[in-house]
Amino acid sequence: MNEAVARPLNLFEYEQRATDQLAAFAYDYYASGAHDEITVAENRQAFERIRLRPHVMRDVSARDLSTRVLGRAHALPIVAAPMAFQRLAHPQGELALARATSGLGVTMTLSTLATTALEEVAAAAEVPGWFQLYVYRDRALTRDLVARAEASGFEALVLTVDAPLLGRRERDARNAFALPPGLVAANLPSEGLRHLEGAPGESGLFRYFASLMDAGLTWDDVAWLRSITTLPVVVKGVLRGDDAALAVEAGAAGIVVSNHGGRQLDTAVATIDALAEVVEAVDGRADVLLDGGVRRGTDVVKAVALGARAVMLGRPLLWGLAVDGEAGARHVLELLVAELDLALALCGARRLEDLSADLLR
Ligand code: FNR
Ligand code: LAC
Repeated sequence: MNEAVARPLNLFEYEQRATDQLAAFAYDYYASGAHDEITVAENRQAFERIRLRPHVMRDVSARDLSTRVLGRAHALPIVAAPMAFQRLAHPQGELALARATSGLGVTMTLSTLATTALEEVAAAAEVPGWFQLYVYRDRALTRDLVARAEASGFEALVLTVDAPLLGRRERDARNAFALPPGLVAANLPSEGLRHLEGAPGESGLFRYFASLMDAGLTWDDVAWLRSITTLPVVVKGVLRGDDAALAVEAGAAGIVVSNHGGRQLDTAVATIDALAEVVEAVDGRADVLLDGGVRRGTDVVKAVALGARAVMLGRPLLWGLAVDGEAGARHVLELLVAELDLALALCGARRLEDLSADLLR
């Protein structure tokens, strides 16, 4: 990055800066949500509505941001959310994000629809990653993806359950979204599976999901998945306590409260508004995470106070990649961590376990 240009001060400024770096169709794909993008906005507004009731005079001279997720210590309560097609942001794409995240001890979740093969990403990361799974109607193909993730050292499978069909993102329809020449869905074994076919007025990714992904999934398929792998399964995309309980009963080790960043069902509830219900239903039987609209350290405080073990961070990492590759993504994380550390101190908390719902109003 041009050193004469000041680095962004916060995650919102990274998005502004990224708009100049990205092709319009790529920015639209990353930024967009379903239909009127009500839920995209609501994820933010719901965080902004919550007020903090800080404690004072509690000796916050030394602070610890670590947490435990799936039985392992994490230096920070942040995991990189799975996001497809990262080479649209930067030539190094998923490799740059793997280096940026793992350098700070942050686990990265690699999308099934990555533009870099999972074996290469696993080799580039210094801490174990998670592999996000989309279940293809072709179960032999799906089983092979799981076997490769397991063999490459991924630590968990993140089963995304909120996308039996892809949400309709009108910007992508308008742009007839497809991957540009040279980029493919690199984890898939055949040309037909590696390419997206756009059509006038239709997103190629929408068409890809409709033709290839299994819209017939039920909780029984979590048992199927567990029967073909020894890896823990994290279920991503739950917004209700009753579904969270079913996920736990199906054997999920983790649950991500997520509305897919507002990209699936528009007008779905904000994730921070759904969190308490899920935490209550899970009742300690699995680790609960949250994503969607996390942009400030206080957002992380609020999620942890309501019972999340960690948050997943989505689009801001793509903005970081677009602005400055690995260094940009690392700086995005550093900004969020500095804000979290400050928020913790100003809430009168030394560690994440000190945060509880009574801090919120
Ligand atoms: C996503 N998300 C996503 N989720 C998933 O399970 N598999 C995937 O391949 C993708 N791909 C993807 C691409 C892009 C461009 C975005 C923005 C998002 C959803 C993602 O994991 C996460 O749920 C949200 O992005 C979190 O919200 P924020 O932080 O982006 O607001
Ligand atoms: C998306 C998919 C790939 O949100 O999950 O674009």
